[in-house]
Amino acid sequence: EIKKKNRNPTAPYSKTGGLGDVCGSLPIELASRGHRVMVVSPRYLNGTSADEILHVSLMQIDASNYNVLEGNKRLHSSMSIGRVLIGWLVGEDSNHVFVDHPSYHRPGNPYGDSHGAFGDNQFRYTLLCHAACEGPLVLPLGGYTYGEKCLFLVNDWHAGLVSVLLAAKYRPFGVYKDARSILVIHNLAHQGVEPAATFKNLGLPSNWYGALEWVFPTWARTHALDTGEAVNILKGAIVTSDRILTVSKGYAWEITTVEGGYGLNELLSSRRSVLTGITNGIHIAEWDPYSDEHIAFHYSAASLSGKVVQCKTALQQELGFPIKPDCPLVRFYFVLEDLVVKKPNWIYWRLDYQKGIDLIHWAIPELMEDDVQFVMLGSGDPLYEDWMRSAENTYRDKFRGWVGFSVPISHRITAGCDILLMPSRFEPCGLNQLYAMRYGTVPVVHATGGLRDTVENFNPYAGEGRGEGTGWTFSPLTKDCMLNALKTAIRTYRDHKSTWEGLMRRCMQKDFTWENAAIQYEQVFEWAFIDPPYIM
Ligand code: ADP
Ligand code: GLC
Repeated sequence: EIKKKNRNPTAPYSKTGGLGDVCGSLPIELASRGHRVMVVSPRYLNGTSADEILHVSLMQIDASNYNVLEGNKRLHSSMSIGRVLIGWLVGEDSNHVFVDHPSYHRPGNPYGDSHGAFGDNQFRYTLLCHAACEGPLVLPLGGYTYGEKCLFLVNDWHAGLVSVLLAAKYRPFGVYKDARSILVIHNLAHQGVEPAATFKNLGLPSNWYGALEWVFPTWARTHALDTGEAVNILKGAIVTSDRILTVSKGYAWEITTVEGGYGLNELLSSRRSVLTGITNGIHIAEWDPYSDEHIAFHYSAASLSGKVVQCKTALQQELGFPIKPDCPLVRFYFVLEDLVVKKPNWIYWRLDYQKGIDLIHWAIPELMEDDVQFVMLGSGDPLYEDWMRSAENTYRDKFRGWVGFSVPISHRITAGCDILLMPSRFEPCGLNQLYAMRYGTVPVVHATGGLRDTVENFNPYAGEGRGEGTGWTFSPLTKDCMLNALKTAIRTYRDHKSTWEGLMRRCMQKDFTWENAAIQYEQVFEWAFIDPPYIM
């Protein structure tokens, strides 16, 4: 199955959102451009993973690899790591390495379950990072190891310890001197913050809790990994990685501001010279309305009836809506992970509001006065799931809430809807608006981060009167402003059919291939190797 070109190979294992999409498709693009690529992820088994497709060789990594030398003394992690198995798939495109440990075998999503984030996430991802550092040195993938001259792409806090380990555990002993690490920030709101006492579990030399004071000026005379009272893994990665990427240009700027920096804006500003934004691409074979295996009718920009008539009718039928070809069908999606960010001062912030579900909640009564159909796909918070059920009862012919995580239904909703609404408070890149545009579904988005970078606001007067742009961007993020933009989109859909077709076609013709992004990634790889490692 993994060889099927239109499948995301991470999907059966770890896709809960956009990071899963990126880790499933960027490596394939890089490999097709001649790079030798290894993808390292946990081998999550939550009872639903298609584990039978993982035909792997398993190799046991010696637990002593997780110890660290300090002087000539071996430090032992205080945790019992147990048996750590590494399995891999040697693919035509890229090699996939799965780190196996009982702590990855749990119901729920990768990060938590209905009770919240797992209490041992720091341990689970520490293990992943140690294994990822050992992998290139010890795994004979395709007959030979990757060796020391490699580049680590470190995605979010979960992988952040890799950059720190290179600087603290390997380079001081002459290993990985020629390697580089690039931190890719997909979402700064998640930082991997735990009490200071957990530092001893990371497998780092003890002086690293207060290390690097010499690297930064006075304001940063705190510690590499701590923010006063806590271990902050992402901070450690920002301090030690050779370069830093974010998934859009807009977000690269936003994280250096107080509003978007989640407490790390000053630190990020201090590394501005190595901070670059590259907008994600999409897996265009997996998301292709002309050949999508999840939708019943195929279409293209040249022939839109498969969408506006057939896919739409099929979706209305599937959702139990009245079949009304001319009624605007709007979608919204959300993933609520019941996670919290632990700020330095130990205030707990819920992250539920990234996708702006609260605004939708308040806007629905007014929106439902109009002749529209509205579908929400998502899960994660019983409060909103209950609310969706009650809204379905109140607005039987107009509102549907689809609770759960289903890739096929997300494709059918993308194909069958006319409009995608994304009122995200912040959105580092956002892939759904890219998928929507590829399927001719016109986005209405809050002008933030990657949404502002990828959706071009519609201008009816440009283009010699034919209009230009691919959707609507609104700001500020208020219910009224959102409804205003959405209602303008709905009016355009209803009253100006040819203008709408122009919008759909322009959306579908946009180039969101990974190739564009991969070229920019390669540029950053080159820059990373021009300079010596940031922390020797
Ligand atoms: P984020 O990663 O912040 O959720 P993105 O827009 O980058 O946002 O990526 C969302 C990804 O998750 C897309 O592939 C989308 O189709 C998928 N997705 C989100 N919710 C669901 C769901 N309920 N069922 C299936 N896929 C979903
Ligand atoms: C995160 C961000 C999302 C981005 C995705 C992939 O989940 O929230 O905006 O598209 O990562 O980079």
